Amino acid sequence: MQAYLQPQDDGLPVRPSGPWVVEKLDYLERYINIFVTSMRDKPWRGTHYIDLFAGPGKCYVSETKAVYLGSPLIALKALYPFTGYFFVDLESDTIAALQQRCSASPVCDRVQCFVGDSNIMVQEIVKHISTIDREFIPGRWSSLNLVFLDPQGLDLHWNTVASLAKLNRMDLIIHYPQMGLGRSMSQAFKAKEQTKVDLFFGETKWREIYEAWQDKPGLHRQLIDYYKERLRRLGYEEVLRGDETGYEPLMRSAKKRTPLCYNKRREARRDHIRGLYVKEDSLWPPVRV
Ligand SMILES: C[S@@+](CC[C@H](N)C(=O)[O-])C[C@H]1O[C@@H](n2cnc3c(N)ncnc32)[C@H](O)[C@@H]1O
Repeated sequence: MQAYLQPQDDGLPVRPSGPWVVEKLDYLERYINIFVTSMRDKPWRGTHYIDLFAGPGKCYVSETKAVYLGSPLIALKALYPFTGYFFVDLESDTIAALQQRCSASPVCDRVQCFVGDSNIMVQEIVKHISTIDREFIPGRWSSLNLVFLDPQGLDLHWNTVASLAKLNRMDLIIHYPQMGLGRSMSQAFKAKEQTKVDLFFGETKWREIYEAWQDKPGLHRQLIDYYKERLRRLGYEEVLRGDETGYEPLMRSAKKRTPLCYNKRREARRDHIRGLYVKEDSLWPPVRV
């Protein structure tokens, strides 16, 4: 039981992962801890962490034979825990392992696990948080939310991102699946019916970009910019310029302009520039409403 929340073998299923997962998880952990530290002691009615592609809670890197805490357990062990956790995975065995691990946490009663397709389950979670936010509570702000979207391949649909963005205060951390897109686009481009790539971008305009750029370097740059433009239309704006960070910029809501840990995030990213590199396949732009 003690091993459940430690980065070690506990006999339960783990997710086989490549060595790059270490950087990803390190980045996530830093971000979460900055988020919970700078946002504590404010009158949020609740703080929620949502992990729509949760996995079993631990990753195993065979190259180094090392076990790492996966995203849901990192969030569960944050310096200041969230008041609610929503974990979703398509696989029931995966969620069973995660639930068992969560049971060892002192805040396990804050965890809700769901088995199913995130692109469907997201509606239930959004409804739940909207209900919490709807009631007027004097002196209390609406809930503060952070979602981590770490799909495998092209399992994340644009409509899911758009649904989450409807919540009042929502940070998004999205894994942009460049490799998955690279593998799928040429077939999807030829298809007449709706494809996973269409669902990922939420419309078919990517096909025009693909047609114009398919044989040129810079295709993914164009597609990422297009995706970011879609995020802008949901109300997110850039906080840092790309040339300041070398990474995809932070984005936040143009409309709501919530007073956030802008400077702290800046530091976090600078820290990463010194210590880490984000692999080409990934886009980790924490964005917030
Ligand atoms: C990349 S892994 C997540 C790893 C996790 N974030 C971590 O840090 O340990 C993706 C997970 O998403 C799950 N998955 C794939 N398609 C899904 C879907 N449509 N809805 C929910 N979960 C899905 C897989 O079963 C897998 O566990």
